[in-house]
Amino acid sequence: MIRTFVDADLRTAVAAAVRAPSLHNSQPWRFRLRDGAIEVRVDSSRPVPSTGPGIAADWAVNIACGAATFNMRLALAVRGTPARVRLRPYPEEPDVIASLTPGTPRPAAPAEQILFAVIPRRHSNRLPFWPDPVTGHSRWRLTEAAQAEGAWLELVTGTAAVEALGQLAHSANRTLSRDPQYRADIARWTRQEQAPDGVPAFAGGPIAEPQDLLPQRPFGELPRAPGRDFEPEPLLGVLGTPGDTVFDQITAGQALQRVLLTGTEAGLAASMLSQPIEVPTVREQLRQAIRRAGSPQMVLRIGFGQPGWPTPRRDVDDVIDAP
Ligand SMILES: Cc1cc2nc3c(=O)[nH]c(=O)nc-3n(C[C@H](O)[C@H](O)[C@H](O)COP(=O)(O)O)c2cc1C
Repeated sequence: MIRTFVDADLRTAVAAAVRAPSLHNSQPWRFRLRDGAIEVRVDSSRPVPSTGPGIAADWAVNIACGAATFNMRLALAVRGTPARVRLRPYPEEPDVIASLTPGTPRPAAPAEQILFAVIPRRHSNRLPFWPDPVTGHSRWRLTEAAQAEGAWLELVTGTAAVEALGQLAHSANRTLSRDPQYRADIARWTRQEQAPDGVPAFAGGPIAEPQDLLPQRPFGELPRAPGRDFEPEPLLGVLGTPGDTVFDQITAGQALQRVLLTGTEAGLAASMLSQPIEVPTVREQLRQAIRRAGSPQMVLRIGFGQPGWPTPRRDVDDVIDAP
């Protein structure tokens, strides 16, 4: 018997997919059922936030669609039919990022159930974290999560290394901020009013101050509580892949989501920092600084934070296409 996914599978999978992170919460995805397979497609009608000079805007789209694909895999596994995934299955249709077909039915593994359960809770936390150190066990689980998806996560520890990464991030941020289009785009994607996309000002983090080790994207203007500076030595992680092809970037997206969900499940907060990825010279300096072969795809700040709120998403009905 040929197994196919049906509409109910699609809807459950899409409800999970849309919770994925995306650059400025731009949600560059669409989903459909075609011949019993679920497809993750690029929504080419959506405005794409500008990225740094020399990095293709596709990078951000591929990461976001990869993360959405990971959520779908979890949702389908928890429904009892894990998916077989093909990335960019049709060379003549580059907007199809992934195609998910039904694999052999089986009960979901406990790890799949646990990660699926935390999807609605995961969100970026751009506030200062508490100084409590992340345990060795949690660090190990985060790096394992990246490896399980074919990526790597290099944790940056030690004052000198953390400060060096902070300097690289500031240097990239200065380069990006010189571009009026980039600044206008951040303002355009910052939402003061309720909206189904973009970054709500409440999620934006406090106004930057000169002593900050890392540059925040200025989405909001939350006043900083007195004495509530950012942690002096955050746990930083650089997520990377063996290469920088479209396949690597979609892989990075899946790995990013697995790392973030693993962290959420362990009670950790995280924020993403992509300025050092978006400026090619800085990305190369970052690669050399962490002494890894391959391509850095994202920088993460990980720690313990006060609980925040998930940000809005477009409705499932707004992102599903008729077959
Ligand atoms: C490719 C990519 C790059 C991102 N870069 C940054 C960044 O530089 N700074 C930041 O605060 N968040 C960054 N984010 C996080 C998004 O802003 C965030 O995922 C989105 O606003 C949705 O919010 P949520 O993560 O709380 O669900 C990035 C996310 C992706 C997928």
